[in-house]
Amino acid sequence: MPSSVMSTPNDLRPPAAVSATGLRKSYGDRTVLDGIDLDIPAGSVFALLGPNGAGKTTTVKILSTLIAADGGQARVAGHDLAASPDRVRAAIGVTGQFSAVDGLITGEENMLLMADLHHLSRREGRRVTAGLLERFDLVDAAKKPAQSYSGGMKRRLDIAMTLVGNPRIIFLDEPTTGLDPRSRHNMWQIIRELVSGGVTVFLTTQYLDEADELADRIAVLNGGRIAAEGTAEELKRLVPGGHVRLRFSDPAAYRSATVALREVTGDDEALSLQIPSDGSQRELRSILDWLDSAGIEADELTVHTPDLDDVFFALTGSHRPNQPNQPEEAVR
Ligand SMILES: Nc1ncnc2c1ncn2[C@@H]1O[C@H](COP(=O)(O)OP(=O)(O)OP(=O)(O)O)[C@@H](O)[C@H]1O
Ligand SMILES: [Mg+2]
Repeated sequence: MPSSVMSTPNDLRPPAAVSATGLRKSYGDRTVLDGIDLDIPAGSVFALLGPNGAGKTTTVKILSTLIAADGGQARVAGHDLAASPDRVRAAIGVTGQFSAVDGLITGEENMLLMADLHHLSRREGRRVTAGLLERFDLVDAAKKPAQSYSGGMKRRLDIAMTLVGNPRIIFLDEPTTGLDPRSRHNMWQIIRELVSGGVTVFLTTQYLDEADELADRIAVLNGGRIAAEGTAEELKRLVPGGHVRLRFSDPAAYRSATVALREVTGDDEALSLQIPSDGSQRELRSILDWLDSAGIEADELTVHTPDLDDVFFALTGSHRPNQPNQPEEAVR
């Protein structure tokens, strides 16, 4: 989908929900963002990855008008960030990295407070609140003080509060950090539902599987710049590391395979061999043909393609921060 977006003529492209050029931000003499460009089509999920302190939250804060950039331009929901911050604010919702939930009042009261902030009538506020509490599975807890909620419940309440204003663009700063696997999957489902309703989601995450699962496009922020940007598949192609793994139960078969194949890494303990491969049908066939002709039978054959973890370490590893597109073998 994203590649077709790229090849679609300009006038047929979905309008950009977020577009930014040359965003810069420093704190004192520490440059956090050193010229960031973004182009996020409406109705898509964009994931910003990066190590701690890379500037993910800073980017979210700039795009959601909470802080000003030192340089560069951005349009959010079609409005210029600097010229029309109020219009931007009216179109977006932000769930910060740290909870905005007031623990002393109930979940329901937190929601009603948000409805007030959005100038909904009492009646409309109650209707929206009831709908969202239901949708986020918080009906039973609605009348309890939010400080009694578990981390996952608080996070759900946080996001429910963000949705009160019916935003078209949502910024979620680490929406699933600290959630158990079940709550994470629930959150993913909620995000998918939002997107299928046409909402654009800008999320930051530490979890690469989350970006892989949800995002149409992913950008890796490192050293103040976008080190790489693309679909999960495109990013995975940037790093080496694809291989076919053969496992043997018969030590003799393992040994004869090791002798016959020179370009392999063997693990004598596990009786397994790793053959570098892009995992394509053609390469697999040649490996199988070779095994047949050598009369070697492996007990198990598995194909490994690089995952986003490989990409992340290659792009943000302290080894070669200045050469993001040429990760060294040692990174793996
Ligand atoms: N108000 C501030 N004053 C000074 N430095 C700041 C301020 N806010 C952020 N920074 C610095 O800017 C850098 C980027 O911070 P930011 O919170 O954007 O990182 P992040 O990518 O969100 O990290 P994390 O994964 O830990 O949430 C950090 O070095 C941080 O210390
Ligand atoms: Mg952060």
